[in-house]
Amino acid sequence: MVKNSTKWIFTTSHKPNKKQVEKALQLANKYGGVYLERNKLRMNEGDFYFVIDKKLSLNFQWEDGKLFFHPSVSKIRLNNYLKNGIDHLINAVSPKKNDIILDLTLGLGSDALLLSYFCEKVVGLEASFPIYAVVAENITNYDYKENWMKEASKKIEVINSDYKIFLDEQKEGSYDVVYCDPMFENPQYKSSSINPLRKFARYDKITREDLEKMIKIAKKKVVIKARSNDSVWDLYSFDKKIGSKKSGVFFGVIEK
Ligand SMILES: C[S@@+](CC[C@H](N)C(=O)[O-])C[C@H]1O[C@@H](n2cnc3c(N)ncnc32)[C@H](O)[C@@H]1O
Repeated sequence: MVKNSTKWIFTTSHKPNKKQVEKALQLANKYGGVYLERNKLRMNEGDFYFVIDKKLSLNFQWEDGKLFFHPSVSKIRLNNYLKNGIDHLINAVSPKKNDIILDLTLGLGSDALLLSYFCEKVVGLEASFPIYAVVAENITNYDYKENWMKEASKKIEVINSDYKIFLDEQKEGSYDVVYCDPMFENPQYKSSSINPLRKFARYDKITREDLEKMIKIAKKKVVIKARSNDSVWDLYSFDKKIGSKKSGVFFGVIEK
């Protein structure tokens, strides 16, 4: 687990052009990190750094892995939903045009992208700094092939925050829907979209107190995503559980 107080290193890919160097310097400055020239860096065990690539995108690299922004399966999910009305997240949240949705666990933002297509705004929190920075720097600049994704990405506000602290600072009924998708307690390693997050993700468990705070700041409902054997199901009597027995992943809904 990486602490937020680490001095983050910003660099470029090999043989950078001037724009890459400028952007790496600018981001090091913005995030209080340090810029190091790529040819002076060695990747030793346990090292990690932010890299500006040739397309001027920010990614995060470590000895045997890389985290970069991509819209994942959002496109397929929207197409399926528009065709047959089935997507467990959309069915659980039932987002409306004027809704403001709080996504407490943004990750790579693929749920947020899908939700923001339907609503006015998504506020997304991410506690892990590398995940936050990679998403914040790329989500609106990504070269989307689909126009709906480009427009949806502009409606997402990305915040580097721990929801356990953020929840305490919000007024009652400040968001229409509060959504939380923590890392599963019983991981599903074949979920390839989550695999790049695993090393640097936060693994906080939802408590009963957290749930009560979520209910307080939600106007309409709270939606929690978890696996069937995760402990969150024992904390509260959910009004609805939507999902598939086959995948073992469910969305618990608490209506207000
Ligand atoms: C399963 S992923 C979320 C995936 C996301 N729904 C998506 O569509 O990409 C869980 C994310 O929540 C983050 N997280 C865990 N605890 C958190 C906390 N207390 N505050 C904010 N983010 C947290 C993790 O770092 C991780 O990125």
